[in-house]
Amino acid sequence: MNLLASILFLPELASEQGKHVDQIIGYLHLLMGVLFVGWGIYFAYVLWRFSRKRNPKADPVGAKTSAPKVIELLVAGAETTLLLVIAIPVWSQLSDARKFPTGKDVVNVRVTGQQFQWNFRYPGPDGQFGRQDPKFVTAQNPLGYDPADPAGQDDLTAPLGELHVPVNQPVVCRVTSLDVIHSFKLISMRSMMDAIPGVANMMQFTPNKPGRYEIICAQLCGNGHAKMAAQLVVDTQADYQKWVADHSKKPLAAKQ
Ligand code: CUA
Repeated sequence: MNLLASILFLPELASEQGKHVDQIIGYLHLLMGVLFVGWGIYFAYVLWRFSRKRNPKADPVGAKTSAPKVIELLVAGAETTLLLVIAIPVWSQLSDARKFPTGKDVVNVRVTGQQFQWNFRYPGPDGQFGRQDPKFVTAQNPLGYDPADPAGQDDLTAPLGELHVPVNQPVVCRVTSLDVIHSFKLISMRSMMDAIPGVANMMQFTPNKPGRYEIICAQLCGNGHAKMAAQLVVDTQADYQKWVADHSKKPLAAKQ
């Protein structure tokens, strides 16, 4: 599959689940490649075989072999196999929130899209996000976090533009939006989720290669859409702990 990925110029892959997505892309292109070449050869054959020179008189009978039926069945079989054996199981695994990883290892993040930036919030050491309510929304607190809620006191708001996650730990994002529909797209994770106001869409991935990756908005959302980007920073365990410690130290008043 690595060979297919490089032939297809797929972007860098840095997540556990992403290999299944690349697998589907690879097999589909393989199938399409075979069909393309097959049809090409058949087309050339037909041009030659049924040329006017070879067939001065039209023959109304048509094909007498069962080859077309057999080939059609083989193609349909290959497509059905891809769908039932790879596509649907992978989709169900990645999108069904009931099958999402749970436990201490999981890094939970609230992702909120907004014209034109991505906000990231972590629950802090208690594992609980602070309460949100529209009545708390102010210019300084655009996401409406309850300043009095103890669960929110240790929440960590990432500096704009960077989502930090530790390598080899599952990440579960709750993706929503403050204004219009955006789409949270992590190409190197092969992961993407619509950010819709009033809805928390769940998404998961497990980064397996430290580095910096691009986060983009994949839904036309206004005149700043093209600039609605951020960085996904996959840290080593030590770097991630340090980052969390650095950003937890900041006084609460400075946070949203
Ligand atoms: Cu947000 Cu495009």
